[in-house]
Amino acid sequence: MTRRSVIAGCGAYLPARIVTNHELAQRVDTSHEWIVQRTGIHQRHIADDREKTSDLAIAAAHDAIESSGLSAADIDLVILATATPDHTFPSTATMVQASLGITRGAAFDVHAVCSGFIYALNVADNFVRLGQADNVLVIGAETFSRILDWEDRSTCVLFGDGAGALVLSAATGAGNSADRGVLATCLHSDGRQHDLLFVDGGPSSSRTVGHVRMEGREVFKHAVRNLSSVIGEVLEAAQLDRSEVDWLVPHQANRRIIATTAKKLELPDDKIVMTIDRHGNTSAASVPLALNDAVRDGRITTGDVVILEAMGGGLTWGASAIRW
Ligand code: ACO
Repeated sequence: MTRRSVIAGCGAYLPARIVTNHELAQRVDTSHEWIVQRTGIHQRHIADDREKTSDLAIAAAHDAIESSGLSAADIDLVILATATPDHTFPSTATMVQASLGITRGAAFDVHAVCSGFIYALNVADNFVRLGQADNVLVIGAETFSRILDWEDRSTCVLFGDGAGALVLSAATGAGNSADRGVLATCLHSDGRQHDLLFVDGGPSSSRTVGHVRMEGREVFKHAVRNLSSVIGEVLEAAQLDRSEVDWLVPHQANRRIIATTAKKLELPDDKIVMTIDRHGNTSAASVPLALNDAVRDGRITTGDVVILEAMGGGLTWGASAIRW
Protein backbone atom coordinates (compact mmCIF):
# COMPACT_ATOMS: atom_id res chain seq x y z
CA MET A 1 0.00 0.00 0.00
CA THR A 2 1.33 3.48 -0.84
CA ARG A 3 2.97 5.31 2.04
CA ARG A 4 2.47 9.01 2.48
CA SER A 5 3.07 11.56 5.25
CA VAL A 6 0.30 13.16 7.26
CA ILE A 7 0.66 16.11 9.60
CA ALA A 8 0.49 14.76 13.14
CA GLY A 9 1.16 18.02 15.01
CA CYS A 10 2.62 21.50 14.87
CA GLY A 11 4.27 23.91 17.26
CA ALA A 12 6.07 27.23 17.56
CA TYR A 13 8.25 29.40 19.72
CA LEU A 14 8.86 33.14 19.66
CA PRO A 15 11.39 34.92 21.88
CA ALA A 16 9.79 37.08 24.57
CA ARG A 17 11.38 40.39 23.52
CA ILE A 18 9.35 42.40 21.01
CA VAL A 19 11.04 45.19 19.06
CA THR A 20 8.67 47.73 17.54
CA ASN A 21 9.24 49.87 14.47
CA HIS A 22 9.30 52.92 16.75
CA GLU A 23 12.21 51.39 18.68
CA LEU A 24 14.11 50.77 15.43
CA ALA A 25 13.44 54.35 14.32
CA GLN A 26 15.56 55.44 17.28
CA ARG A 27 18.52 53.40 15.96
CA VAL A 28 18.41 53.99 12.18
CA ASP A 29 16.92 56.60 9.84
CA THR A 30 13.50 55.01 9.32
CA SER A 31 9.90 55.37 10.49
CA HIS A 32 7.00 53.17 11.55
CA GLU A 33 5.01 54.51 8.58
CA TRP A 34 7.72 53.62 6.00
CA ILE A 35 8.14 50.09 7.36
CA VAL A 36 4.39 49.41 7.51
CA GLN A 37 3.68 50.88 4.07
CA ARG A 38 6.58 49.04 2.30
CA THR A 39 6.46 45.73 4.17
CA GLY A 40 3.42 45.36 6.49
CA ILE A 41 5.71 44.77 9.50
CA HIS A 42 4.74 46.39 12.83
CA GLN A 43 7.03 44.48 15.19
CA ARG A 44 9.35 41.46 15.40
CA HIS A 45 10.58 39.14 18.17
CA ILE A 46 14.31 39.21 18.90
CA ALA A 47 16.17 36.47 20.78
CA ASP A 48 17.83 37.17 24.09
CA ASP A 49 21.67 37.24 23.92
CA ARG A 50 21.79 33.79 25.55
CA GLU A 51 19.12 32.22 23.30
CA LYS A 52 20.54 30.22 20.42
CA THR A 53 18.77 28.89 17.31
CA SER A 54 18.74 25.44 18.95
CA ASP A 55 16.94 26.84 22.02
CA LEU A 56 14.18 28.26 19.82
CA ALA A 57 14.03 25.02 17.82
CA ILE A 58 13.83 22.83 20.95
CA ALA A 59 10.92 24.87 22.34
CA ALA A 60 9.02 24.62 19.03
CA ALA A 61 9.82 20.89 18.83
CA HIS A 62 8.39 20.20 22.30
CA ASP A 63 5.24 22.09 21.34
CA ALA A 64 4.85 20.14 18.08
CA ILE A 65 5.49 16.74 19.66
CA GLU A 66 2.99 17.49 22.43
CA SER A 67 0.31 18.48 19.91
CA SER A 68 0.95 15.28 17.92
CA GLY A 69 0.19 13.00 20.89
CA LEU A 70 3.47 11.17 20.21
CA SER A 71 6.52 11.16 22.46
CA ALA A 72 10.08 12.16 21.58
CA ALA A 73 11.03 8.47 21.58
CA ASP A 74 8.74 7.96 18.55
CA ILE A 75 10.74 10.45 16.42
CA ASP A 76 13.21 8.70 14.10
CA LEU A 77 14.37 11.70 12.03
CA VAL A 78 15.00 15.38 12.83
CA ILE A 79 15.41 17.79 9.90
CA LEU A 80 16.08 21.40 10.78
CA ALA A 81 16.07 24.27 8.26
CA THR A 82 18.23 27.23 9.23
CA ALA A 83 20.67 29.77 7.84
CA THR A 84 21.73 30.75 11.36
CA PRO A 85 23.03 27.54 12.98
CA ASP A 86 24.49 27.53 16.49
CA HIS A 87 27.85 26.38 15.11
CA THR A 88 29.46 25.84 11.73
CA PHE A 89 29.25 22.20 12.78
CA PRO A 90 27.77 19.99 14.11
CA SER A 91 24.30 20.60 12.76
CA THR A 92 21.75 22.36 14.95
CA ALA A 93 19.45 19.38 14.36
CA THR A 94 21.82 17.20 16.42
CA MET A 95 21.50 19.68 19.33
CA VAL A 96 17.73 19.31 19.14
CA GLN A 97 17.97 15.53 18.90
CA ALA A 98 20.18 15.37 22.02
CA SER A 99 18.02 17.76 24.00
CA LEU A 100 14.91 15.69 23.23
CA GLY A 101 16.73 12.53 24.38
CA ILE A 102 16.40 10.87 20.95
CA THR A 103 19.16 8.34 20.37
CA ARG A 104 17.97 6.53 17.26
CA GLY A 105 17.52 7.57 13.65
CA ALA A 106 19.23 10.60 12.13
CA ALA A 107 19.36 14.38 12.46
CA PHE A 108 20.65 16.95 9.97
CA ASP A 109 20.24 20.55 8.83
CA VAL A 110 18.92 21.79 5.50
CA HIS A 111 20.05 25.18 4.21
CA ALA A 112 17.90 27.05 1.69
CA VAL A 113 17.50 30.30 3.69
CA CYS A 114 13.87 31.50 3.61
CA SER A 115 12.79 28.50 1.50
CA GLY A 116 14.45 26.13 3.98
CA PHE A 117 11.26 24.86 5.57
CA ILE A 118 9.71 23.88 2.22
CA TYR A 119 12.96 22.10 1.30
CA ALA A 120 13.05 20.31 4.69
CA LEU A 121 9.40 19.29 4.36
CA ASN A 122 10.07 17.80 0.92
CA VAL A 123 13.08 15.83 2.20
CA ALA A 124 11.04 14.58 5.18
CA ASP A 125 8.12 13.57 2.97
CA ASN A 126 10.48 11.61 0.69
CA PHE A 127 12.02 9.79 3.68
CA VAL A 128 8.52 8.79 4.82
CA ARG A 129 7.34 7.74 1.35
CA LEU A 130 10.45 5.58 0.91
CA GLY A 131 9.91 3.88 4.27
CA GLN A 132 13.14 5.29 5.74
CA ALA A 133 11.37 7.12 8.58
CA ASP A 134 8.00 6.89 10.35
CA ASN A 135 7.81 10.06 12.45
CA VAL A 136 9.81 13.08 11.34
CA LEU A 137 10.29 16.32 13.22
CA VAL A 138 10.62 19.12 10.65
CA ILE A 139 11.77 22.43 12.10
CA GLY A 140 12.44 25.93 10.75
CA ALA A 141 14.43 27.99 13.25
CA GLU A 142 16.38 31.23 12.93
CA THR A 143 18.18 33.91 14.89
CA PHE A 144 18.55 36.31 11.96
CA SER A 145 19.12 39.15 14.44
CA ARG A 146 22.70 37.79 14.78
CA ILE A 147 23.53 38.33 11.09
CA LEU A 148 21.87 41.72 10.59
CA ASP A 149 23.83 44.91 10.09
CA TRP A 150 21.93 47.02 12.62
CA GLU A 151 23.14 50.18 10.87
CA ASP A 152 21.67 49.17 7.48
CA ARG A 153 18.07 50.40 7.47
CA SER A 154 17.31 48.59 4.22
CA THR A 155 17.66 45.16 5.89
CA CYS A 156 17.60 45.46 9.71
CA VAL A 157 13.92 46.47 9.81
CA LEU A 158 12.79 43.37 7.89
CA PHE A 159 13.77 40.35 9.97
CA GLY A 160 12.89 38.68 13.27
CA ASP A 161 13.74 35.53 15.23
CA GLY A 162 11.58 32.46 15.90
CA ALA A 163 10.98 28.76 15.29
CA GLY A 164 8.15 26.58 14.01
CA ALA A 165 7.87 22.80 13.73
CA LEU A 166 5.73 20.03 12.29
CA VAL A 167 5.60 16.32 13.04
CA LEU A 168 5.08 14.23 9.89
CA SER A 169 3.91 10.65 10.40
CA ALA A 170 3.67 7.78 7.95
CA ALA A 171 0.17 6.71 6.91
CA THR A 172 -0.83 3.86 4.67
CA GLY A 173 -4.43 3.05 5.53
CA ALA A 174 -7.59 3.69 3.61
CA GLY A 175 -10.69 5.19 5.26
CA ASN A 176 -11.46 8.81 6.02
CA SER A 177 -7.82 9.87 6.27
CA ALA A 178 -6.82 8.26 2.97
CA ASP A 179 -6.59 11.52 1.04
CA ARG A 180 -4.85 13.52 3.79
CA GLY A 181 -1.17 14.45 3.96
CA VAL A 182 1.50 16.03 1.79
CA LEU A 183 0.11 15.86 -1.75
CA ALA A 184 2.99 17.40 -3.71
CA THR A 185 6.03 19.65 -3.30
CA CYS A 186 7.96 21.54 -5.99
CA LEU A 187 11.43 22.99 -5.39
CA HIS A 188 13.59 25.30 -7.50
CA SER A 189 16.80 27.26 -7.31
CA ASP A 190 18.71 29.60 -9.60
CA GLY A 191 22.27 30.01 -8.37
CA ARG A 192 22.98 32.71 -10.96
CA GLN A 193 21.07 35.06 -8.63
CA HIS A 194 23.16 34.22 -5.53
CA ASP A 195 24.45 37.78 -5.19
CA LEU A 196 20.99 39.39 -4.92
CA LEU A 197 20.67 38.18 -1.33
CA PHE A 198 23.61 36.86 0.65
CA VAL A 199 25.68 37.09 3.82
CA ASP A 200 29.09 38.70 3.29
CA GLY A 201 30.95 36.23 5.51
CA GLY A 202 31.43 32.54 6.26
CA PRO A 203 34.19 30.17 7.39
CA SER A 204 35.58 29.45 3.92
CA SER A 205 35.37 32.92 2.40
CA SER A 206 36.20 35.36 5.16
CA ARG A 207 36.42 33.64 8.57
CA THR A 208 33.84 36.07 9.92
CA VAL A 209 30.12 35.49 10.28
CA GLY A 210 29.14 38.47 8.10
CA HIS A 211 25.89 40.38 7.56
CA VAL A 212 22.81 40.10 5.33
CA ARG A 213 23.10 42.07 2.06
CA MET A 214 20.14 42.37 -0.28
CA GLU A 215 19.13 44.00 -3.56
CA GLY A 216 15.59 44.39 -2.25
CA ARG A 217 13.91 45.69 -5.40
CA GLU A 218 15.39 42.91 -7.59
CA VAL A 219 14.51 40.19 -5.07
CA PHE A 220 10.97 41.55 -4.96
CA LYS A 221 10.54 41.11 -8.74
CA HIS A 222 11.88 37.55 -8.68
CA ALA A 223 9.68 36.70 -5.69
CA VAL A 224 6.42 37.71 -7.36
CA ARG A 225 7.27 35.88 -10.59
CA ASN A 226 8.71 32.69 -9.03
CA LEU A 227 6.08 32.28 -6.34
CA SER A 228 3.12 32.65 -8.70
CA SER A 229 4.71 30.13 -11.03
CA VAL A 230 5.58 27.52 -8.38
CA ILE A 231 2.12 27.69 -6.81
CA GLY A 232 0.60 26.95 -10.24
CA GLU A 233 3.07 24.09 -10.62
CA VAL A 234 2.29 22.51 -7.23
CA LEU A 235 -1.47 22.75 -7.84
CA GLU A 236 -1.01 20.91 -11.09
CA ALA A 237 1.24 18.28 -9.45
CA ALA A 238 -1.39 17.73 -6.76
CA GLN A 239 -4.19 17.75 -9.36
CA LEU A 240 -5.96 20.58 -7.59
CA ASP A 241 -7.90 23.48 -9.01
CA ARG A 242 -7.18 26.85 -7.43
CA SER A 243 -10.83 27.02 -6.30
CA GLU A 244 -10.11 24.03 -4.04
CA VAL A 245 -7.47 25.90 -2.02
CA ASP A 246 -8.69 26.68 1.49
CA TRP A 247 -5.53 28.41 2.78
CA LEU A 248 -2.40 29.98 1.36
CA VAL A 249 0.37 30.06 3.99
CA PRO A 250 3.07 32.18 2.36
CA HIS A 251 6.58 33.04 3.45
CA GLN A 252 6.19 36.29 5.37
CA ALA A 253 8.77 38.51 3.62
CA ASN A 254 6.63 41.40 2.46
CA ARG A 255 2.88 42.02 2.54
CA ARG A 256 3.04 43.48 -0.98
CA ILE A 257 4.71 40.32 -2.35
CA ILE A 258 2.04 38.17 -0.68
CA ALA A 259 -0.81 40.38 -1.96
CA THR A 260 0.54 40.47 -5.52
CA THR A 261 1.05 36.69 -5.58
CA ALA A 262 -2.45 36.06 -4.20
CA LYS A 263 -3.99 38.46 -6.72
CA LYS A 264 -2.31 36.69 -9.64
CA LEU A 265 -3.82 33.44 -8.38
CA GLU A 266 -7.21 35.11 -7.77
CA LEU A 267 -7.13 34.04 -4.12
CA PRO A 268 -9.24 36.26 -1.84
CA ASP A 269 -7.57 37.93 1.17
CA ASP A 270 -9.51 35.80 3.65
CA LYS A 271 -7.73 32.66 2.37
CA ILE A 272 -4.27 34.05 3.18
CA VAL A 273 -2.55 33.51 6.52
CA MET A 274 -0.60 36.65 7.49
CA THR A 275 1.72 37.02 10.46
CA ILE A 276 4.16 39.50 8.97
CA ASP A 277 2.75 42.36 11.04
CA ARG A 278 3.72 40.57 14.29
CA HIS A 279 6.70 38.39 13.28
CA GLY A 280 8.47 40.17 10.42
CA ASN A 281 10.51 37.91 8.15
CA THR A 282 11.78 34.98 10.24
CA SER A 283 13.34 33.22 7.22
CA ALA A 284 12.98 29.41 7.50
CA ALA A 285 10.72 29.80 10.56
CA SER A 286 8.15 32.02 8.88
CA VAL A 287 5.99 29.38 7.15
CA PRO A 288 5.71 26.96 10.13
CA LEU A 289 5.09 29.91 12.49
CA ALA A 290 2.22 31.15 10.29
CA LEU A 291 0.90 27.61 9.87
CA ASN A 292 0.90 27.05 13.62
CA ASP A 293 -1.01 30.31 14.15
CA ALA A 294 -3.79 29.30 11.76
CA VAL A 295 -4.03 25.76 13.16
CA ARG A 296 -4.11 26.87 16.80
CA ASP A 297 -6.77 29.53 16.26
CA GLY A 298 -8.97 27.03 14.41
CA ARG A 299 -8.78 28.44 10.88
CA ILE A 300 -7.04 25.39 9.39
CA THR A 301 -8.99 22.21 10.16
CA THR A 302 -8.95 18.56 9.09
CA GLY A 303 -9.43 18.09 5.36
CA ASP A 304 -8.48 21.67 4.38
CA VAL A 305 -6.25 22.14 1.34
CA VAL A 306 -3.25 24.23 2.39
CA ILE A 307 -0.60 25.67 0.07
CA LEU A 308 2.77 26.62 1.56
CA GLU A 309 5.24 28.73 -0.43
CA ALA A 310 8.55 30.53 0.08
CA MET A 311 11.42 32.21 -1.72
CA GLY A 312 14.84 33.09 -0.34
CA GLY A 313 18.55 33.51 -0.93
CA GLY A 314 20.13 31.37 -3.63
CA LEU A 315 17.76 32.18 -5.11
CA THR A 316 15.69 29.24 -3.89
CA TRP A 317 11.92 28.82 -3.95
CA GLY A 318 9.26 26.18 -3.56
CA ALA A 319 5.69 25.30 -2.69
CA SER A 320 3.92 22.42 -1.05
CA ALA A 321 0.29 21.28 -1.24
CA ILE A 322 -1.10 19.56 1.85
CA ARG A 323 -4.51 18.16 2.71
CA TRP A 324 -4.64 18.79 6.46
N1 ACO B 1 13.30 53.35 6.10
C1 ACO B 1 13.18 54.42 5.29
N2 ACO B 1 13.65 54.43 4.02
C2 ACO B 1 14.22 53.29 3.57
C3 ACO B 1 14.39 52.15 4.36
C4 ACO B 1 13.90 52.21 5.68
N3 ACO B 1 13.98 51.16 6.53
N4 ACO B 1 15.00 51.20 3.63
C5 ACO B 1 15.23 51.71 2.41
N5 ACO B 1 14.76 52.99 2.38
C6 ACO B 1 14.79 53.93 1.26
C7 ACO B 1 15.86 53.62 0.24
O1 ACO B 1 17.09 54.14 0.64
C8 ACO B 1 15.29 54.28 -0.99
O2 ACO B 1 15.58 55.64 -0.93
P1 ACO B 1 15.93 56.47 -2.29
O3 ACO B 1 14.70 56.35 -3.14
O4 ACO B 1 16.19 57.83 -1.77
O5 ACO B 1 17.12 55.78 -2.86
C9 ACO B 1 13.78 54.11 -0.84
O6 ACO B 1 13.57 53.83 0.56
C10 ACO B 1 13.20 53.00 -1.67
O7 ACO B 1 14.01 51.83 -1.53
P2 ACO B 1 13.64 50.47 -2.23
O8 ACO B 1 14.67 49.44 -1.87
O9 ACO B 1 13.37 50.70 -3.67
O10 ACO B 1 12.25 50.14 -1.50
P3 ACO B 1 11.22 49.02 -1.83
O11 ACO B 1 9.90 49.60 -2.04
O12 ACO B 1 11.74 48.04 -2.87
O13 ACO B 1 11.15 48.21 -0.44
C11 ACO B 1 12.00 46.17 0.50
C12 ACO B 1 12.31 47.62 0.08
C13 ACO B 1 10.98 46.24 1.60
C14 ACO B 1 13.28 45.54 0.99
C15 ACO B 1 11.42 45.37 -0.70
O14 ACO B 1 12.22 45.59 -1.84
C16 ACO B 1 11.34 43.89 -0.44
O15 ACO B 1 10.59 43.42 0.37
N6 ACO B 1 12.11 43.06 -1.19
C17 ACO B 1 12.02 41.60 -1.14
C18 ACO B 1 12.49 41.01 0.15
C19 ACO B 1 12.39 39.49 0.08
O16 ACO B 1 11.42 38.94 -0.38
N7 ACO B 1 13.40 38.78 0.48
C20 ACO B 1 13.39 37.33 0.23
C21 ACO B 1 13.38 36.55 1.42
S1 ACO B 1 14.61 36.99 2.58
C22 ACO B 1 15.77 35.69 2.68
O17 ACO B 1 15.83 34.77 1.94
C23 ACO B 1 16.83 35.85 3.73
